[in-house]
Amino acid sequence: MKYDGLDATALSARLGAPNCVALERVTSTLDIIHQLAEDGAPHGTLVLADEQVKGRGRRSRYWHSPRGSGVWLGSLLRPAAPVEGGVLAIRAGICLVRALADLDVVAKLKWPNDIMVHDRKLAGILCEARWSGQQLLWVALGIGINVHGPLPREIADRAIALDEVLPGIGRLKVLDALMPWLRGLADRPTLGEHECFEFGRCDWLAGRPVLEPVAGTAQGIDRDGALLVETLEGIERVVGGTIVTA
Ligand code: BTN
Repeated sequence: MKYDGLDATALSARLGAPNCVALERVTSTLDIIHQLAEDGAPHGTLVLADEQVKGRGRRSRYWHSPRGSGVWLGSLLRPAAPVEGGVLAIRAGICLVRALADLDVVAKLKWPNDIMVHDRKLAGILCEARWSGQQLLWVALGIGINVHGPLPREIADRAIALDEVLPGIGRLKVLDALMPWLRGLADRPTLGEHECFEFGRCDWLAGRPVLEPVAGTAQGIDRDGALLVETLEGIERVVGGTIVTA
């Protein structure tokens, strides 16, 4: 199968991935990554699909992934040392913000994994780890980017496709911008000072009143990728759940 005119070998060379699989229709690229990982595929294996029929997001939400309309990417990470999925998701989000900046698009990162453009969601990130006891076997990193609109009416007020702000953009150009940033994603178990600083520059929640899961004001993140919320009792760390803002 060809993905925007390129076969798997050409994609792998162009995107610098050791192993690339391009598929027409999958349940989810994350499912393919888990299968390949079980079969021994190497770190950095990349799966790109034209369409996902069971694309998934955080909290088992459905991720709309129609044919040819976005980048539906799965990447296999085999970290040398255990690393939290939360750290990887934030780091991947920072990479996406950098890649979009390279394309002259200003994006914000809404903790933990929403990439926002004009206050609408452009992309999302999902990390799924597989463990054997205490040993981290692999992480399937999933990235979904809406590239071509129109988006379904039900989500059009809160989601955005990249071609709305970059007319004529194609999936390969997005991948060209993104893939170099994703290298080395799993090398460090916690976020570095510079990554926290970069997060701060694109932090969509910063200073906003948060109602749930705890009431207070969003104050950035810590090195483990937890959201810090200033409450009446002091700073609380939020590590999961859905953020509801006022
Ligand atoms: C979210 O915002 O909740 C995360 C969305 C992640 C969607 C991507 S699309 C590619 C990969 N395959 C999936 O089934 N999900 C991720």
